[in-house]
Amino acid sequence: MPSPRHPTRTVFIAAFAFSLAAPAAASPPALPASPAPPVPLVPPDTLAQRVAPCVACHQPQGRNDAFFPRIAGKPEGYLYNQLLNFRDGRRQYPMMTYMVGHLPEPYLREIAQFFASQHPPHRSSATGPARVEATAQMLERGRVLVRQGDAARGIPACIACHGQALAGVAPAIPGLVGLPRDYINAQFGAWKNKVRRAQAPDCMADVASRLTGADVAAVSAWLASQGVDDAARPAAAPAAPLPLRCGGVPDHGGAR
Ligand code: HEC
Ligand code: HEC
Repeated sequence: MPSPRHPTRTVFIAAFAFSLAAPAAASPPALPASPAPPVPLVPPDTLAQRVAPCVACHQPQGRNDAFFPRIAGKPEGYLYNQLLNFRDGRRQYPMMTYMVGHLPEPYLREIAQFFASQHPPHRSSATGPARVEATAQMLERGRVLVRQGDAARGIPACIACHGQALAGVAPAIPGLVGLPRDYINAQFGAWKNKVRRAQAPDCMADVASRLTGADVAAVSAWLASQGVDDAARPAAAPAAPLPLRCGGVPDHGGAR
């Protein structure tokens, strides 16, 4: 399944994009001559204000749809890797590439740190997990794949990398609870179609290639039906070496 696109939702944001310029490049716009006394044209310049355009799409609590992932509270290295992935064309979303394509790496790192340190409650922690249309059998299949994998088919358990609590593992593996089902399905579609990639070796592309469409549907149903714990934080390190090597996670290279 190709990753969904909502071009009309993105147009409005182009007007904001310039406010993101790295601080050194910011300069007040030239104004026509005016008799008024000089007024402070540059608003107080904090990182939180400069990333306001990001928050317009990535609402702090997250939305429950396929398109705009929550970024608050995801591990810093993961967020940073994604900014590089958009910049370098390994992930495709034109507005993202436009927004981060010209920013220097230290500034991308700062933006990643900023969002990683935000922990607003998830929207679903008030409403409960989304109602998921799936049979009990399908949910069970999803649970088994996530927690145990399927050794006979070479599918590692998701928890081997994403952590026992599925809350992610520092520095660069994201959590899997709290993600909308449609978003998970769309990302697997993107890996299978090679429009989402990570730094090589791309372990998620490898995992995705081993899952059938029915496996993905079962896994996304089970994950989306899990309650999210707002107090959960990414684990400090994997409990054991990762079952596959992941280019974005160089310190925990793991087995081959
Ligand atoms: C016009 C809407 C829009 C704006 C503005 C926007 N993004 Fe995004 N961003 C998206 C969409 C849509 C995706 C998911 C694309 C996909 O499915 O691959 C995304 C993905 C991401 C991801 C990957 C998330 C994940 O969980 O894998 C990160 C990180 C991110 N954006 C950061 C930012 C930052 C930082 C800014 C501000 C500099 C920003 N975005 C501005 C729409 C936007
Ligand atoms: C060998 C380690 C490994 C295994 C096993 C693994 N993952 Fe991942 N996963 C990763 C890494 C690393 C990333 C970050 C990839 C990147 O930087 O784009 C990731 C990213 C993801 C994302 C993207 C989240 C987002 O916010 O966009 C999803 C969804 C995901 N994995 C689902 C799964 C599921 C479901 C399974 C089990 C079927 C699984 N993963 C098994 C390492 C793994």
